[in-house]
Amino acid sequence: MAKLITVDALDYVYPDGTPALFDINLEIAEEEFIAFIGQNGSGKTTLSKCLNGLLRPTQGSIIVDDLDTRQRGIIKQLVTKVGYVFQNPDHQLFNRTVWAEIAYGPNNIGLSQSEVKERVIEAAQVAGVHEDVFDTHPYFLDKGLRQRVAIASILALRPKTIIVDEPTTGQDVRQSIEVMNFLKRLRDEEGHTIIIITHEMRIVADYAERTVVLGKGRKLLDGPTREVFAQPEILKQTFVEPPQITRVGQALVEEGLPNDVLSVEEMKVAFNRK
Ligand SMILES: Nc1ncnc2c1ncn2[C@@H]1O[C@H](COP(=O)(O)OP(=O)(O)OP(=O)(O)O)[C@@H](O)[C@H]1O
Ligand SMILES: [Mg+2]
Repeated sequence: MAKLITVDALDYVYPDGTPALFDINLEIAEEEFIAFIGQNGSGKTTLSKCLNGLLRPTQGSIIVDDLDTRQRGIIKQLVTKVGYVFQNPDHQLFNRTVWAEIAYGPNNIGLSQSEVKERVIEAAQVAGVHEDVFDTHPYFLDKGLRQRVAIASILALRPKTIIVDEPTTGQDVRQSIEVMNFLKRLRDEEGHTIIIITHEMRIVADYAERTVVLGKGRKLLDGPTREVFAQPEILKQTFVEPPQITRVGQALVEEGLPNDVLSVEEMKVAFNRK
């Protein structure tokens, strides 16, 4: 698959002097489904904001398509390539109606009114935001719908890569499955690259094919999710535990179970083979 993003020796230090990322190297290709995981403060959000140009590298570089995020005056191009849905959608939604919210990005990059309209209708439909709420203030929607509006407002810019920071926090199981299946459809049917940031390892095991592990601003692991969860000692450094079913296998390796089981179904197969 074609390469979309190349991160080379990235360091990021916040303006107040807080160092947040050290020597990050990363390549992201078309149609990947990736999870960024790691303890609180490990740098997941900072890395995401670097990928879409909200933050510029202190050292090193990030190339998105053929754009170097260090260049000035390219943010309007960058937002059409990498979309970032904030950790708390309430920090992203600031317009008075759902329509204005979704139209904000397309208006901002200077599209014509008819193109804006087309983009809003398309994005709302893909994200499952019904036209009945177009005139509603986002504040009056439930959290799940507010998040879909936040996603629609990013989709309206048609970025190839979409980063969703903690898509399932504060949602019940049904809402979590709904938003995750929606992101999976965006990848499977619309060809987007999806990056999720999450503390829920069950979600990682079920959806992400690749997992990047951050600890204290450094990349500790990066690979197929199965291989990442098979390294509990490294995960421990950043206070991550593999999903429970994986840990059961790891606790019983000496009894002949594999250390990289990702689901109950796989465990049943492994158990019967024993
Ligand atoms: N605006 C800021 N100014 C200064 N330091 C910051 C700022 N935002 C984050 N940091 C620091 O940068 C480091 C990385 O934070 P970041 O928010 O990227 O972590 P995270 O992995 O997203 O954590 P969480 O899981 O809690 O969301 C932390 O030390 C944090 O305190
Ligand atoms: Mg964060």
